[in-house]
Amino acid sequence: MEKITLSTKDVSMEYPGVLALNKVNFEISTGEIHAIVGANGAGKSTLMNVFAGSNPGYTGQVLLNGKPIEVRTPNFAKKHGIQIVYQEVDTALVPSLSVAENIMLNDMVMNMKGSFLDWGSIRKAASKALERLHITNINVRTLVQNLTLAQKQMVLIARAIQSECNFLILDEPTAPLSDTETEELFRIVKQLRESENIAIMFISHRLHEVLQICDSYTVMRNGEIVHNAPITPETSTKEIVEKMLGRSFEENFPKEKVQIGEKFFEVKNLSGAYGKVNDVSFYVKKGEIVGIAGLVGAGKSELCKTLFGSYKKTGGAVYLNGKELKINNPAQAVKNRIALVPEERRKEGVLVQETVAFNLSAACLQKFCTMSFVQKGKVNENAERFVKDLGIKTPSIKQLVRNLSGGNQQKVAVGKWLAADCDIYIFDEPTKGVDVGAKQDIFHLINDIAKAGNGVVYASCENNELLSITDRIYVMFGGEIMAELVTADTNEDEIMNYSVGTRAAISN
Ligand SMILES: Nc1ncnc2c1ncn2[C@@H]1O[C@H](COP(=O)(O)OP(=O)(O)OP(=O)(O)O)[C@@H](O)[C@H]1O
Ligand SMILES: [Mg+2]
Repeated sequence: MEKITLSTKDVSMEYPGVLALNKVNFEISTGEIHAIVGANGAGKSTLMNVFAGSNPGYTGQVLLNGKPIEVRTPNFAKKHGIQIVYQEVDTALVPSLSVAENIMLNDMVMNMKGSFLDWGSIRKAASKALERLHITNINVRTLVQNLTLAQKQMVLIARAIQSECNFLILDEPTAPLSDTETEELFRIVKQLRESENIAIMFISHRLHEVLQICDSYTVMRNGEIVHNAPITPETSTKEIVEKMLGRSFEENFPKEKVQIGEKFFEVKNLSGAYGKVNDVSFYVKKGEIVGIAGLVGAGKSELCKTLFGSYKKTGGAVYLNGKELKINNPAQAVKNRIALVPEERRKEGVLVQETVAFNLSAACLQKFCTMSFVQKGKVNENAERFVKDLGIKTPSIKQLVRNLSGGNQQKVAVGKWLAADCDIYIFDEPTKGVDVGAKQDIFHLINDIAKAGNGVVYASCENNELLSITDRIYVMFGGEIMAELVTADTNEDEIMNYSVGTRAAISN
């Protein structure tokens, strides 16, 4: 098969105060799955956006088969066979249109001159794109709004390959997927390499995935490429991490011993979230980190949001220090000293149009006020502290959050609540999309919260994280709690067993 290469020569990209790419020389050929790894803010998405035509201000050269091309618009990139699927799938889809229309969107827009659309052939072409991917569980007549996130991703991949596609960029595609959905995506990615001879650029912070599926990898650090190698059976996540961070790194997180106090937060028979939380009971002691385990879709996020008042409660009660709490909306939750770091932080967790400093004090502005005047000095001091403690990569605390890399936005969302004075801190998948170094920083800060005598509820699909940071774990399935486990006495297998619906006797 004909081999096509895409490369860069001394590509740089500068934002005000940030050199996001510094003379990058990179090359990829069709028929390979190539990982791009690096810490949050290393420049991965920026480089991918250069290829995709969304960073027209780059300097240096992009070359296709050694010939310079000017990738200054997304349309130019697409016409030259470079396609990208972003993690925020919804922004690229029209929810009220069918799968077929969404797959054929580019063609439809281009062929609208005569305003005559041949629906039969649109559906046929869309079905063909899905067939090429061996996808059988999506009907082309279904409206996109009725699809799962994983299915929407498939629709976008189908759209990419039904146009000219030699290079497909997937920027953190697996972060929101369940294990089975990830497996299905990997099957499709391999299919694209084998039958279609497509090159895939794959970004992920889950390094075991990189070893599982990629042929080669490139490590970025501070806007530069620091390493490039094939993946062999000898390649280890440890060596990749060390190249990413530029130092040796111990991945194990030793849980600190914390004095556990009395039971002070209690949830009794809680139901709500439109039927997705059913009769949930659990408790948290002072100084305790309590895990909520379960697969994607088990109801963990719904439970977190019901506790925080974002979803309607239909039954049960929540007690703090023996007093029943009235929480019908997030404002009441905050007033009752309950904090939530939500999963979809870019949508719900941060104000992207505001500065880093503002976001880091937004959850507790009154703390920084004297007689309703905001004390700028205190706000800045607080912001500087969290930028340092969480390693938030930003030129200054005055930077707008929307200009930060994805993982650094997540760190701001976490830091925002760490600064608040609350009794109960709920974290919903706080480490999704953050690099291994930042993950440990977040763990340390969560430990500090517990050490100060507060309670932590930590919801996550990553059972190894739950095992390293929590004291006890409740396992959810179908909106209910299946088991209560003591972390020191359990393991991944036992958690998995309850996650798929086995029920244990619970002592409450
Ligand atoms: N529009 C922008 N304005 C200013 N700075 C930006 C902008 N976009 C990105 N940056 C900066 O460029 C650098 C590289 O960001 P990029 O998004 O490429 O990182 P990344 O490697 O994808 O990180 P992550 O793993 O967190 O997604 C970061 O320091 C980021 O803050
Ligand atoms: Mg990124």
